[in-house]
Amino acid sequence: MVSEDRPGAGGRDGARTTAEVEEIVGELGRYLGDSPAISLPPRAYTSPEFYELERSRVFGRCWVLVGHSDELTAPGDYVALTVAGEPVVVTRGHDGALHGMSPICRHRNMPLVEPGAGRTDAFTCRYHLWRYGLDGRLLGATYMRGNKEFDPAACRLPGFAVEQWHGFVFVNLDPGAEPLAPHLGRFDRETANYRLDDMVQVASWQEEWRVNWKIAVENAHENYHVMGLHPNTVALITPRGGDMDVRVDSPWATRLRSPFTEPMEPGVLPLRDEQRAFMDNCCVFPSGSVATFADSIVWISFIPLSIDRTQVRGGVLLPPAMLDGADRDALRKEHEASSAVVNAEDRDGLEAVQRAIGSRFAGRGHLSPKEPGVLAFYRGLARALLPG
Ligand code: FES
Ligand SMILES: [Fe+2]
Repeated sequence: MVSEDRPGAGGRDGARTTAEVEEIVGELGRYLGDSPAISLPPRAYTSPEFYELERSRVFGRCWVLVGHSDELTAPGDYVALTVAGEPVVVTRGHDGALHGMSPICRHRNMPLVEPGAGRTDAFTCRYHLWRYGLDGRLLGATYMRGNKEFDPAACRLPGFAVEQWHGFVFVNLDPGAEPLAPHLGRFDRETANYRLDDMVQVASWQEEWRVNWKIAVENAHENYHVMGLHPNTVALITPRGGDMDVRVDSPWATRLRSPFTEPMEPGVLPLRDEQRAFMDNCCVFPSGSVATFADSIVWISFIPLSIDRTQVRGGVLLPPAMLDGADRDALRKEHEASSAVVNAEDRDGLEAVQRAIGSRFAGRGHLSPKEPGVLAFYRGLARALLPG
């Protein structure tokens, strides 16, 4: 450890905690300069005030990967979740477009839908039965004509920005957010021969991990932990703790490239040799990624539920040619089962880290040269959180 991180300094009075947040943000700023390769101050994971800052400046403004369009194929399909405490629903409208909005009733704040997925023609509030369309417009409000100040035409659910990138669905809580796609142009070109638009999601999952979201995201930005947490699974395809090449394309897009122990077998896609020899993990700040495993694609997203709980969403995609004649149910079970094993290994380790992060002896550790992705993530966090 470099130093103890000021044990006992995390006071809860206003002035002190503001100073605490300023100090953490100041430390983050050093990653944009010539900071030593060390981990974040432990209080970055435990300070409620710092989490509030992340809620507004990171998850209130950035593109969050929430799913794949195969979960939203027909009009009326919806996916509901919370993003750092903010309820969100994404629908496939009758117009064929995706809509993102706040599923909070405009009458007296009843949630219109609970986290999950389903299909519906409209959202009817169970409290007083106001109804909303798939695009958020109010369709009807019972016994409201007598209130002359109420204008049903002006009443609709607040919208969020939604964008698809080759089937991956991103939401931004800021409806005026700058589009994401221009930042992913290099990923576009490099993954063209994967034909992502044609790929089919064969399995998906959601889990809840008892960790601060950054503990999960850091872990996903390095392979150094593979020897320790995945000795019988991921370690078999990742050599020597996984040297990683990091390339930053934009504030939102970072590519992490890692070699496989052996190039993946030729499959059905016209991939280049390097695409069979390396895993390319296309990370979209803050917490989504799409990774290539030769002919299969695995996406994962870490979305905070609270300061110490994170929803982990993910899925596996295959090219249609690999599905010809396949037993889709068996394929789904097989991929869900293998993902569950690896996820359980990460979760078990990371929840242990979370239990220790509040210790007075938790500190800032030196990072290995095998962890450049972690530093790239810290720099992204610094850019998102620094004022201006
Ligand atoms: S709170 Fe939804 S109709 Fe009253
Ligand atoms: Fe892992």
